[in-house]
Parts: sequence; structure tokens; C-alpha cells
Amino acid sequence: MRRLSIGFVSALTCFLAACSTPAALSSDVTVMRLPHNMNESHPIHQSLVHFAELAEEKSGGTLRFDIFPNGQLGSEREAIELTQTGAVDATKVSATALESFSPFYALFSIPYLFADQDHYYEVMESAIATDIYDSTSDSGFFGLTYYDAGTRNMYTIDQPVREPEDLAGLKIRVQPSETAIQMTRLMGGAPTPMAFGEVYTALQQGVIDGTENNETALIANNHGEVAKDYSYTEHAIVPDLLIFSKLRWDSFSEEERAIIREAANESSQFHKELWAEEIQRSVEAAEELGVTFHEDVNKEAFRDLVEPMHEAVRSNEMMAPYYERIREMEKEE
Ligand code: GCU
Repeated sequence: MRRLSIGFVSALTCFLAACSTPAALSSDVTVMRLPHNMNESHPIHQSLVHFAELAEEKSGGTLRFDIFPNGQLGSEREAIELTQTGAVDATKVSATALESFSPFYALFSIPYLFADQDHYYEVMESAIATDIYDSTSDSGFFGLTYYDAGTRNMYTIDQPVREPEDLAGLKIRVQPSETAIQMTRLMGGAPTPMAFGEVYTALQQGVIDGTENNETALIANNHGEVAKDYSYTEHAIVPDLLIFSKLRWDSFSEEERAIIREAANESSQFHKELWAEEIQRSVEAAEELGVTFHEDVNKEAFRDLVEPMHEAVRSNEMMAPYYERIREMEKEE
């Protein structure tokens, strides 16, 4: 599996290197590639398009990003590897997908880490986030900004998840990450890791009994056609991150870097507003599809079951300071 993925990335790297900047463009226009795994109807696509527009506008047309949606250049893991080698310039991935590149990113996926949305925003806009973003600078990329990806909840084909017992024996698709696997196991389910692009078919074919994600997946990715019970376990708030290739970044002037940073931060704020509207719209559309939203979930029970994950971070010398800082910010709220 790992060998296949490396093969895929090197083949794609050669292919991308072969297609150079179109001749018609003036040589002082830098055209960059930004792939991601969602389709054009997903809010993250709109926010990435907004980022590209802002960068182009602020640079007087000299910094251009071509966006490749739908995972057409590969899964999140493959997109990270392409960014690392500089075959693409940036990508948007879930923070969960980054934990095998630097353990610090795993913090964002710890279940019940953030007390609420305000606490989450505060942490994501603090030095804690930027320290973590820089932890991969020596391995070819770094994080530039975050995009709200809502709260993750369990949803299943035909039974609500109110108590841990309800998950017993259920095959739940999780993101391919140790943290997600451990979390789902502790919560009571049988974790089945797979790339996001495969989830709809896996639900349809009954390969899995359910999965966990924010509400947009029900509509933008059609999961609500098959999964009819969405239960508010609210077990994780995991950001999407815009990561950038170090190779490309190092070739920029200070002015270009400032433009890209500004475009990234503005698009992140734009996304926050869009996100709230899209969640509302997704819930309404999913209800029309026959999805039932369950609020009566025993979150306390799930929270207690994942406590060993908190304990593990607290007793990890490297991670503990970050964890404690996040906790402190909760108290200051
Ligand atoms: C969220 C997240 C995506 C991620 C997906 C997943 O939708 O925004 O970046 O790919 O979860 O579960 O894989």
C-alpha cells in the first residue's frame, strides 16, 4: 500500500514536471498548483478559489493558483507528498492527515480537546497553531492557515448512536490515522480507515455501517443518500489546513510571501462565514433526503472513554506543553 503510494507520487511528479507553464503566459507570472479532495460544490472549494483570487489581485496578476478539486491529483496523503517534493505548490488537507509527518498535528484530532467553537478559533489563531505549522518546515512544507471544518459527528446507515453500546460491532470509516483509529475503538466502534474519496461507495455497498464527519458531507458528498441517522456525538473539531511547499516559498520575495499570507488569512475568515451558512443549508437539505439528526447523545460517556488519549498526551514530554497551553486558553475564555 505504502509502496504503491510512493509509486503514484513519483509518477505524478514526473508528469507534473513535464507540463510546464503555458507559453502564452508572461515569464513573470508564477502559476502554482493547488489540489484538494473535495468537489466544486463544497464550501472549502469556494474558499480556496477566493484565496487564489485574492493572491492574484494583490500581486497584480503575478501570483496565480490553479485549483485541482475532486482528488484528481490523489488522496490527501498523496497531495501532501506532492507538496513535500514541490510537484505541487500547496494543498488543503485535514490536520488529521498530517500526523504521520509531524506528531504535533495529532493534537488537533484529540477527541473532545476543544471546549467549543470559540476556544477552537482562539487556539487556531494563536502561536500554538503557528508553532505546529512550522514543525514540518524541515520536511518540505509548512502550514499557512486553517479553514473551519466544523464538528465531527457519527452517522450511520440506519441506527442512531446515542450511547457507546450503539457503536458495538459497527464498522466505522475513519481517516487513515492512528489517532482516529484509537478514538473510534475507544468510543466502542470498529474503525475502518480509508481515504475520503472512497467513503460514499463503501457506504452504498455496505462495506461500512457508518462514518463520522461534519454535516456538509451528507450533501456535498452525497453521504446522506445512504446514511440516514446523524448523531451529535461532537467528538472532534479538526481543522482543515492549507499547507505550502517550502521549495516554492523559499523562491519568493518578502513581498510575495506577505501577499500570500494575507490572502490565506483573509480566505480563512471568509470561510468561517461561509461555513456557518453551509452547515445550515446542509442540515435542511439532508432532512429533505430523510436524514434524522439526533441531539440526545450521551457525550459524557464518550468523553470518559477517550480520556486515555488525553492522559497519553499529558504524559508525553514533547506534546504536554502544547496540550497544557490549549487547556489554559479554555480557562481564560
Ligand atoms: C472533513 C475534512 C476533509 C477530510 C474529511 C475526511 O470533511 O474537511 O479535509 O478529508 O473530513 O474525513 O477525510
